[in-house]
Amino acid sequence: TKPRITVVGSINTDMVTETDAVPSQGETVRAKNFHTVPGGKGANQAVAAARLGADVTMIGCVGDDPFADSLLTNLQDEQVSAQYVDRIQKTPSGLANIILSEQDNRIMIVAGANQRVTPDYIKERQEAILNSDYVLLQFEIPKETIEYCMQLCKQHSIPVIVNPAPAMALAASAWDAATYITPNETEWSQLFQEQNDEKLIITKGKAGVSYWEDGIERAAASHPVQVVDTTGAGDTFNGALAVALAEKCSLTEAVTFANAAAAISVGKIGAQAGIPTKQEVEAFLTQSRGR
Ligand code: RIB
Ligand code: NA
Repeated sequence: TKPRITVVGSINTDMVTETDAVPSQGETVRAKNFHTVPGGKGANQAVAAARLGADVTMIGCVGDDPFADSLLTNLQDEQVSAQYVDRIQKTPSGLANIILSEQDNRIMIVAGANQRVTPDYIKERQEAILNSDYVLLQFEIPKETIEYCMQLCKQHSIPVIVNPAPAMALAASAWDAATYITPNETEWSQLFQEQNDEKLIITKGKAGVSYWEDGIERAAASHPVQVVDTTGAGDTFNGALAVALAEKCSLTEAVTFANAAAAISVGKIGAQAGIPTKQEVEAFLTQSRGR
């Protein structure tokens, strides 16, 4: 049977502008292309976990604009249960404005309905969390909700992966309730002043992944791949990690699987377009072991 994963998090529409030049103050530049695609760290992680073989429930909110319909349809098309995703009246759906250039990605997010994922909203839907093998959280919903979900998981001994993205400080004691914490390097230095903790799994892009197993610091190297768009690579990593851990893989096996899934994901434009299936990850790993 499939592992059950619940994702509590954001659902956004990503408006992606592909450009060679990024405008500076007061400047207008001609950009290359524009795409409207589904995104949001919560939804991306939910889609990743579902494509990679889990039974996934999303807890979140969309607004009452035309984007809400496509966001809900996308979750359904991806076999993610949207039973606990409400439409909030008189509120826009979450939105991300993304500038995709050769040098880097620049993102502005507008929380919109994601702000309505409150502790009370969770309390009315917490049977989903209590019926999970693994829970995934990111930082595009209110801080109180993140802390509430972490405590709830701890009380019920449900493992929870906390992806602190984008970085936001929590009460120092709150982190204790996490099973794993998965910052990228920037978030790690902002939140943990580069201190180590055995719960940390730090994703470092081309520099691979650092993590601890049995008290020993370990590293997974990145895969040499053609990068088209890194948006959502971290989300693919987290979704994949949750699936592998829920299937009782060792931490090293789970990091290896997640690292490969993230490497594949950067090959297509859009946060969700490049997310692979489990078969694709397995084939990729077999190939890379043969190299
Ligand atoms: O992690 C990538 C996501 O961050 C994008 O899909 C965008 O919505 C932003 O929230
Ligand atoms: Na991608």
